[in-house]
Amino acid sequence: MLGPRILIADDDKLVCTTIERILKMFGYEVVAVYSGTEALKTIDESFDVIILDINMPDINGFQTLEFLNEKEIDIPVLFLTGGGSMDYAVKALNLGAYDFMTKPVDDLDIFNSKIKRAVEKRTFVRQQKAYQDNLEREVQEKTAELAVKNQLLEKYSHELENATIQIMSSFQAFLEKKDEYTAGHTKRVTEYSIMIGKQLGISKQDLVVLERAALIHDIGKLVNERDHIQKAGKLTEKEWKEIKEHPEVGSNILEPLVFLQRERQIVKNHHERLDGSGYPQGKCSEELDLLTRIIAVADSFDAMTSRRNYRPNFSKYQALDELKRCSGTLFDKNLVEIFAKMIDTENINSIIDNNF
Ligand SMILES: [Fe+2]
Repeated sequence: MLGPRILIADDDKLVCTTIERILKMFGYEVVAVYSGTEALKTIDESFDVIILDINMPDINGFQTLEFLNEKEIDIPVLFLTGGGSMDYAVKALNLGAYDFMTKPVDDLDIFNSKIKRAVEKRTFVRQQKAYQDNLEREVQEKTAELAVKNQLLEKYSHELENATIQIMSSFQAFLEKKDEYTAGHTKRVTEYSIMIGKQLGISKQDLVVLERAALIHDIGKLVNERDHIQKAGKLTEKEWKEIKEHPEVGSNILEPLVFLQRERQIVKNHHERLDGSGYPQGKCSEELDLLTRIIAVADSFDAMTSRRNYRPNFSKYQALDELKRCSGTLFDKNLVEIFAKMIDTENINSIIDNNF
């Protein structure tokens, strides 16, 4: 096995050969070059120690070290020079040289111990670098692992949220199905709401909240007597009071679900009207956000265009006229205008057609 690798650069070939022999005798692998330029061309990370003569014809030893410093080569450099002045030694050390030796080499033990120390330093630096590289790689790998886990967690949590909405919506749809007059109401309100939301250009996040809120807006009706919802003719005061509780009941059902708090507010407010004439709290315009107002328009339009057992359904134009008549008082003017522009689109027609 080869020993540590040393490069020696000296324009005096005799000195070079002598040092090379000494180093080989101590078990080192040696590459000898005869100028600073050659040294710079030859040096790579495989070397453990560099020995530089100071006075060389093309670029001297100091300049060679300056180039190595620029390239951030972190190999210990020992200067070897015939002129052993203090100025040279100080300059060498200021440039970051590891050691300074004079030639000829008289004491081989001292020479070898200096080389050994330099090799040890290089080994230490290499180990440090390997440790740091390893650490950085491990951190990168762990960060990447964590990112994948986070993504999965986010996906599962999203799926769980959607599953919760779907279960509630299925309950609602199941109960609607039992009554031919309300069948498909939730689905249609959701589709109208999404159409309006998209037309308005609301954010993707708001669109998700809008869809979820529409899917469960009547969840509170689960506790209403079916007879009251389906009743032909006028409701008694008590029955009407019970029906009017469904937004509040829906809000209570959703209370423990922390990820549905925006939807919960919409469910609670979907029968409130701009002029304060709605229920359950008689809130007015500034208390009703855009998504709630969208669902109010969609819900009311579907209620009017759906058949009821106590009255025939309105045509879509009659329903629109009613929305317009109440625009600004019960419903958001801008939303009614947007909905009016969509009234003859195929999407609206196909949603209404599914009503029968
Ligand atoms: Fe409702």
